[in-house]
This record gives sequence, structure tokens and C-alpha cells, in this order.
Amino acid sequence: MELKNRIKKILNENGVNPKTIVDLGCKQMRYSDLFPNSRILGFDIVQTMKLYKKLQQNDNLSFFFKNFNFNQNVPKSDLVIASLFLHFIKKEAREKLFEEIKKSKYFLVVHLDKRIQIPKEFSLIAKDEFHTEKETHDELPEHSHHLFIELYKTL
Ligand SMILES: C[S@@+](CC[C@H](N)C(=O)[O-])C[C@H]1O[C@@H](n2cnc3c(N)ncnc32)[C@H](O)[C@@H]1O
Repeated sequence: MELKNRIKKILNENGVNPKTIVDLGCKQMRYSDLFPNSRILGFDIVQTMKLYKKLQQNDNLSFFFKNFNFNQNVPKSDLVIASLFLHFIKKEAREKLFEEIKKSKYFLVVHLDKRIQIPKEFSLIAKDEFHTEKETHDELPEHSHHLFIELYKTL
């Protein structure tokens, strides 16, 4: 089962049906089709052409430039998504970021290969892990990744 289906299953099984979503390091907001009726705010330091087109076609999606290595506020939402993102953020900046994420109800993390420590104030309610199909990107030899999905409830 690919990543998106696994995420969908975890959210459904735990009755998470967010009206508002914050997607940190959203890139092209790859999860937006899982939430056709939700308002999604995406944040990143770059905007891709693919996202630009998506934004033009969908009023539910908004994008903002923000660099989370500098102290930034995160709007309160029903669900914060940090997918393949936290490892880009310096440890000191991550602490402030977690404080901000705590304002929201649920926190969904997708870790790549190595899990980033999530503070104890977040309560883990579901998790999953799997190895991706073999892939090639960034001129690397064929390889697969070990992905971890974690759903937290903020306390
Ligand atoms: C590996 S991609 C993951 C994209 C998307 N979340 C996904 O799962 O497909 C990491 C994204 O984080 C963004 N990013 C990296 N450092 C960032 C920072 N300091 N602040 C905001 N976004 C950042 C990158 O531009 C990139 O789009």
C-alpha cells in the first residue's frame, strides 16, 4: 500500500476528519486530494510549478513562503502535516516549531529513514512503517526508503 493510502487508513481508523490543515514543507501538497473538503494552508521555502497550477485550480488551497529555521508562527488547525520535512529543520528551531504545532489538534509526521524525536507532550495514537518500492532520484543509484508514519494527538 503506498504512502497516501496508509495515511488515509490511519486517519480514518482514528476518526480524524480535519476541516483545516497546515502542511509544513508542503512542496506540491501531495496529500491535498485526500482532503477535498478541507482548507489546506501549505508552507515552504520554494513554490513549484506543479503547486502553482494546483493553487489556481483549487480555492481550498493556499500557499505561504516561510522558513521554519527561523522562528515562525504556525496557524492553529485540526491537523498539522510534517511529511519528509522535520530533518530539514535545525534542532533549536524545531523546539519552537513543536511549541507552535501544539496549538493544533493532531500532528501527522512522516519520517524518512531515521525518526526525529517528537516531544513527550505529543501523544502517539497510531503508527505504521514500510519500505518504498525501489526508486532512482537525484542521480543516486536505485534504492528504497524506510518510511515511518506517526499520528499524534496534542495534549
Ligand atoms: C523532501 S520535501 C517533502 C515535501 C512534501 N512534504 C512531501 O512529503 O512530498 C521537503 C520540503 O521541505 C521544504 N523545506 C526545507 N527546508 C525548509 C524550511 N527551512 N522551511 C520551510 N520549508 C522547508 C523543501 O523546500 C521541500 O519542499
